[in-house]
Amino acid sequence: MENKMIVVYKSSTGFTKKYAEWIAEELQCTLADYRTVTAEMLSGYEIVVFGSRAHAGMIDGYKKARELFQKSGAGKIVLFVTGATPNVAEDMVRDFWGQNLTVDELSKIPHFYMQGGLCYEKMCPPDKWMMKAFAFFMKKKKDKNPYEKEFEQAIAASYDISDKKYIAPLVDYLTK
Ligand SMILES: Cc1cc2nc3c(=O)[nH]c(=O)nc-3n(C[C@H](O)[C@H](O)[C@H](O)COP(=O)(O)O)c2cc1C
Repeated sequence: MENKMIVVYKSSTGFTKKYAEWIAEELQCTLADYRTVTAEMLSGYEIVVFGSRAHAGMIDGYKKARELFQKSGAGKIVLFVTGATPNVAEDMVRDFWGQNLTVDELSKIPHFYMQGGLCYEKMCPPDKWMMKAFAFFMKKKKDKNPYEKEFEQAIAASYDISDKKYIAPLVDYLTK
C-alpha cells in the first residue's frame, strides 16, 4: 500500500493536521502539507486524501486542491473535513456537504466529516474577528432556538472534541 496513497492537509489551528497524521499513520502512507504540494508530486499517487477545515460553511482550499488533483492525473480523491460542529449533528453535516459538492461529486467523491473544535489561541486575527462577529450576532439575536443557544455557548471559548475514532470510516473505506 506504500506510495499508493498520500494524505494532503490544510490546517490553520492544528485539528486537521492531527487527523491527517492519524490517518497517514494508520494507512502507512505519505503525509504532506498542502502548501508544499504540486501537481507533479501528486501524479505519483493513485489516491489523494485531501483534508481541510470547514470555514464559514465552505471547505477551505478545496477549489485549489481539486484543480491540483485534476492537473496531476492521480486516480482518485477522497475528502475529509474537520469542524467545530459535532459529528452527531448529522443534518448540519449533510447540509454542509450539499453546499460544497455538486450532485455528481457527492456520488463520486468519498467524503468524511471529523469533529475538531475551536482554538482561539492559534487562530489568525481575521478568523478571530469573524468569530467575534458571530458571537456578537448570536448574543444580540432575539428568540434563539435551542441550537442557536448551544452554538452561542460553544463558540465562547476554545474546545477540543477531536478523537482518533472519527478516522475509522475513512480508514475502513481505504483499507477494506
Ligand atoms: C472563521 C471560522 C469559521 C468557521 N466556520 C465553521 C463552519 O462553518 N462549520 C464548522 O463546523 N466549523 C467551523 N469553524 C471551526 C473550524 O472548522 C474548526 O476549528 C477546524 O477544526 C479547524 O481546523 P484546523 O485546526 O485544521 O484549522 C470555523 C472556524 C473559524 C475560525
